[in-house]
Amino acid sequence: MSDKVLELKNVTAGYGPTHVLRGITLSIVPGERLAVIGRNGAGKTTLLSTIMGLTRMHGGSLHYGGAGD
Ligand SMILES: Nc1ncnc2c1ncn2[C@@H]1O[C@H](COP(=O)(O)OP(=O)(O)OP(=O)(O)O)[C@@H](O)[C@H]1O
Ligand SMILES: [Mg+2]
Repeated sequence: MSDKVLELKNVTAGYGPTHVLRGITLSIVPGERLAVIGRNGAGKTTLLSTIMGLTRMHGGSLHYGGAGD
């Protein structure tokens, strides 16, 4: 069983047909912190929205707190 509370593998996501995130892979274990940095429009908010299920996933997999795909 995985000890990861958040895991994204090769995620492509965006708004409607538009791809904003491409090939995002990251994971977090309990107690770990991950900083996301980038210029304006790089996709930081889109990444958080994707983790919350508010964007359209075009590819890859996403598991948060033991749920989702
Ligand atoms: N609701 C939306 N519909 C369509 N495109 C969007 C939407 N929100 C953001 N975008 C586009 O997605 C891309 C990433 O934007 P996002 O807001 O995720 O960047 P950000 O890194 O959070 O920027 P900032 O530092 O300004 O907060 C930009 O090209 C933006 O225009
Ligand atoms: Mg933002």
